[in-house]
Amino acid sequence: MKDITIAIDGFSSTGKSTLAKQLAKQLGYVYVDTGAMYRAVTFFAMQKGFVSENHLDKELLINELNNVTLNFTFNKELGFAEVYLNGTNVENEIRNLEVSRCVSQVAEISEVRSKLVEQQQEMGKNKAIVMDGRDIGTVVFPNAELKIFMNSSATTRAERRFKELSDKGQQVTYEEVLQNVQERDYIDTHREDSPLVKATDAIEIDNSSLTKEEQFNLVLNLVKQKL
Ligand code: DC
Repeated sequence: MKDITIAIDGFSSTGKSTLAKQLAKQLGYVYVDTGAMYRAVTFFAMQKGFVSENHLDKELLINELNNVTLNFTFNKELGFAEVYLNGTNVENEIRNLEVSRCVSQVAEISEVRSKLVEQQQEMGKNKAIVMDGRDIGTVVFPNAELKIFMNSSATTRAERRFKELSDKGQQVTYEEVLQNVQERDYIDTHREDSPLVKATDAIEIDNSSLTKEEQFNLVLNLVKQKL
C-alpha cells in the first residue's frame, strides 16, 4: 500500500482531531494537530504579556519567535502526540478558554504562520500523515491525496466544546463557548493570510447528524479508494 497525505480542515470544534486520531491509529500514520501549534505560540505570547483578549503586541512577538521551539512527543497511554513548548508539555494549558480567546489574533500574523507551516511541511515530507487545521489542504499540503473539509452548525459545535470543557472541570458557560466559536469562525474565515476556505478538491462532510463511528467509516472508505 502506498503512503498518502490526509489533510483535514474545517471550523473549530467540528471534531477534526477526533477523526484525525482515529484515522492515524487505523492506518499507522503520524497525526499532527496544527491548532495545538498555534495555541502553544499563543500560550507563549500570553506568558510574555504580548497578547490578551483585547491587546496584541505583534512586533514583540515576531521578534521573539526564534525563541519558540515546538515539538510533539507520542504519549503511549493517550495514543497521540502531545505538544511541547520549549521542552515543557503544555497540552493541558493550551486547551482552556483564555487561550481560545487569544489564538485567532496570533494565528493572523504572517510571520507566525510561515514559521509553523514550514515545520508542518517538514513533518509531512515522507507522507503517511494525517494533519488537521484550517489551511492544510490549501497551503500546507496543496497536493494532499485526500482532503476533507468538516463542518457542522455553530450550536452543535458549541455544545460539544462546552461538554468537553465542563467534563475537564473548567468553569465556563455555554453562551461563552458559543460566542468564542462564532468569533473564531469569523476571524478564521476573514483573515488576510491563509483564511479558512474549502479547497476546491476537498470533500465536505457536515457531521451535525453523524455519529463518530458513521463519520469514521465514511472517511475510511474514501481513504481506501485513494490507497
Ligand atoms: O483547531 P483549534 O481550534 O485548536 O485551533 C486553534 C486556532 O488556531 C483556530 O482558531 C485557528 C488557528 N489555526 C490556524 O489558523 N491554522 C491552522 N492550521 C490551525 C489552527
